[in-house]
Amino acid sequence: IEEGVTLKGELPFPFGAAVNNNLLKNRAAYRETVIKECNSVTAENAMKFSQLHPSENVYNWTEADYLVNFAQQNGMRVHGHTLIWHKNPPAWVLNYQGDAVAWDQLLKNHIQTVVGHYKGKVASWDVVNEVMAENGTLRTESIWYQKLGPQFIEKAFIYAHEADPDALLFYNDYGHEFGPTKRTAIINLVNDLKSKGVPIHGIGMQMHTRYTQSDANLAAAINTATATGLKVHIAELDIQMNPDNVQDLVFSAGLAAQQKAKYEFIVKTYNAIPKDQQFGITTWNVGDADTWIRGEYNRPDWPLPFDDNYQRKPAYQGILDGVK
Ligand code: G3I
Repeated sequence: IEEGVTLKGELPFPFGAAVNNNLLKNRAAYRETVIKECNSVTAENAMKFSQLHPSENVYNWTEADYLVNFAQQNGMRVHGHTLIWHKNPPAWVLNYQGDAVAWDQLLKNHIQTVVGHYKGKVASWDVVNEVMAENGTLRTESIWYQKLGPQFIEKAFIYAHEADPDALLFYNDYGHEFGPTKRTAIINLVNDLKSKGVPIHGIGMQMHTRYTQSDANLAAAINTATATGLKVHIAELDIQMNPDNVQDLVFSAGLAAQQKAKYEFIVKTYNAIPKDQQFGITTWNVGDADTWIRGEYNRPDWPLPFDDNYQRKPAYQGILDGVK
């Protein structure tokens, strides 16, 4: 790879990463890699409900503001993640006592306070995250679903749009590439919102995927989302290399080559969709040392384009090759 080549410089759409504030502050190579390679960032955790709104009347902007300032200083866009999610709501929300009107107000207050705080600074949001279960029905374990019914989804978009009519609003989920069941349910949900006139502008496809996933499924995911006419964000890309949890697996040259090919295929397929629908590609963190996958599955894995020392992997070349 020639000197001066960077992902933000070579790709014809924004390239970003999910960023962990602790690493951004404390690990120079991490910070330098983000600055060098990315023109978009997503907070890995700092903009989630429990981080921003830990108790009913307390908002804690410190970490998210730090990331927004970092992005502004370095000419990057910030994609907001995520306003409403069933995972990790703070205890005060889980314990909240109120009727449907009060819950509606809680939803509205949170969304409008956060979107309002970042108006003019955060131009896009994952408004609602992961409402769809694997079997294609809405997740009933969501506190929002339990308290407000399925309408919480459209309400969230409407409230976000009221707070910042210029912001691009996304529905974000994983598993588009698993197969038609979940994918079709997500697309139906999004099309239904569109047809009702709900302000939705994009689909976030997380794409936490595996090197064993078929190209056909990956292409179906990207192309089906594109057919909605909405903007498409590959929002949390990583490619797991050890899905069978082999504790002593080595990341061989052969595995690295297979990962490179998968990154290339995803980028090539995405590069072929209409330009005005390309919101960008975001990887879920930067180097292999930072990935959520090692902690989540308690195994070695190497899902990202940079290695544990922020050196470019063959996967990085695969991304570049995807836009050749
Ligand atoms: O900050 C605390 C730390 O103080 C404490 O010592 C430690 C003990 O476990 O926990 C730390 O918080 C953890 C946080 O990550 C920061 O590392 C939480 O327990 C942990 O649950 C949290 O995990 C995040 C997860 O979302 C849940 O919010 C992952 O970092 C993050 O990568 C992951 O991201 C999600 C996307 O938001 C949505 N799509 C799937 C994706 C992967 O799961």
